[in-house]
Amino acid sequence: MERENWTSRLGFILAASGSAIGLGNIWRFPFITGTNGGAIFILIYLAAILFIGYPILVSEMSLGRITAKNPIGAFKKMAPDTAWPLVGALGVLSGFVILSYYSVVAGWGMSYIFKSLSFTAESNFPAIFLGHISSFTEPIIWHGIFMFLTIAVIGAGVVNGIQKLVKVLMPILFVIIFLLIIRSVTLEGAAAGLSFYLKPDFSAIDFQTFADAISQAFFTLSLGMGAMITYGSYLSKKESISESAGYVLIFDTAVALLAGFAIFPAVFAFGLDPASGPGLTFITLPAVFTQMPFGTFFSFIFFLLLTIAALTSSISMLEVVVAFLVDEYEWKRKKASYLMGFLIFLIGIPPLLGYSSFSNFSFLGMDVLDTYDWFSNSIFLPTGGILTSIFVGHIWGSRNAVKEANKNSRFKIGNIYSILLKYIVPTAVLFIMLFNIYQTI
Ligand code: PHE
Repeated sequence: MERENWTSRLGFILAASGSAIGLGNIWRFPFITGTNGGAIFILIYLAAILFIGYPILVSEMSLGRITAKNPIGAFKKMAPDTAWPLVGALGVLSGFVILSYYSVVAGWGMSYIFKSLSFTAESNFPAIFLGHISSFTEPIIWHGIFMFLTIAVIGAGVVNGIQKLVKVLMPILFVIIFLLIIRSVTLEGAAAGLSFYLKPDFSAIDFQTFADAISQAFFTLSLGMGAMITYGSYLSKKESISESAGYVLIFDTAVALLAGFAIFPAVFAFGLDPASGPGLTFITLPAVFTQMPFGTFFSFIFFLLLTIAALTSSISMLEVVVAFLVDEYEWKRKKASYLMGFLIFLIGIPPLLGYSSFSNFSFLGMDVLDTYDWFSNSIFLPTGGILTSIFVGHIWGSRNAVKEANKNSRFKIGNIYSILLKYIVPTAVLFIMLFNIYQTI
C-alpha cells in the first residue's frame, strides 16, 4: 500500500501540535511551575524549549521525512547493519510504557467531566480523588474507553483518523482555553495569582529547577521516542520543516502558558495552594470551580479540554507502535491498532491498581504509576534524545539535516542549530539525566 501523506501543511502542524499539547501542558506544566517558584521556572523552561527542544524536534522531523519510515525503520535505512535501530526500538518501547499510564490519567480526567457535575462547595475533594483512584471498576472502564478512542482513530488511518480528528479538536481546544482564562482573570482577587505567575522568585532556583525544565521540555514536545520521526515520515517534500517545527513549538508553549493563566489566578482568588503538586488538577481545581459563578460549566469544559488534549497526544504514541508493525512486518493498520492498543491497555493495569491492590508496591519510594513515569521521563526519553541528537548531528551529519529541514523554507536554520545539536544538546541532556538518576537513587 502507498504510504499516506498529510494532505496539507496545516494538517501536519495540527497533528504535531496535537501530539505536543497534552497532559504535559495542562496537568504537568502548571503544577511543576507552581512547585518551582512560578515565573523564574518559566524563563528557564523557555530557554530549554528553544535551545534543546527545537533542535531535537527539527532533527526528528527531518529524519522521519527523509526516510519515510517509523523510528526503527528510519535508523535502519540511514545506518544499516549497525546498532542504531535500537534507538528506534527504545522509542517503540517508550510508546508502550508511556501510553499505558497516560491513558490511566486521561481516564481520571474523562471521569471528572461527569463527576464534577455533582460537586458542591462542601465536597471533600481529596477524599473524592483518592476514592476514585483507589477503586477498580470506574478507573478501568475509563482507561478502557480512552484506549478504545485512541485505537479507533489510529485504526482509521493517518488522513482519515489522525488528521480529521485534530482538525476538529484543536480549534475547540483553543476556544475552551480562552473561555477559561477570561473566567479566571476576571475573578476578584485574581491579581495575586497573576503576580505569582509573572514575577520571578530568584531564590527558588537550584539545579533541580534546570533538570525539571529540561525534562518538561522533552515530554511536552513529544521528543525522544520517535513520535515526531513518525509524524515527519508522513510529511510531503514540499513542506518546510524548520518552519513547521517553529509553529509546533509556539502553539505548544502558548497552551502551557495559557493553562497557567487559566489556573493560577483562580487558585489565588480562592486562597488555595498553587504548590499542591500533581493533585492541583484533580483536587485544587475542582474546589476552585465549585466556588466560582457558573463553576459547573467551567469545570465541565476544563475536563473536556484535558481529555481532548490527552487524546490528540495518545494517538501519536500508538501511531509510533503501529507504524513500526505496518512498515516492517506489513501488518494491516487495523489489526496492529487493535492488538497493540489492547496490549497497552493491559500494561496500564498495574499502574491503575497502584492505589489499591498494588499499593504495597514501591520502587525507590515510588508507586507503580510514578515508576512507569520515572523510567520513561528520566531514562527512556532523555536517552532517546541524546542518541538521536548524536546520530543526526554526527552520523547522518548536521549539514544533511539542515538541508532537509530548510527545503522550501523562508526561515532557515544553520550553524547555531548544528552547534546546539552536535555538542550542547547531548551534553546538557546527559548531565541532567545523570543528575536526575542520582537524585532519585
Ligand atoms: N507531549 C505530550 C504531552 O505534553 C506527551 C507525549 C510524550 C506525547 C511523548 C507523545 C510522545 O502531554
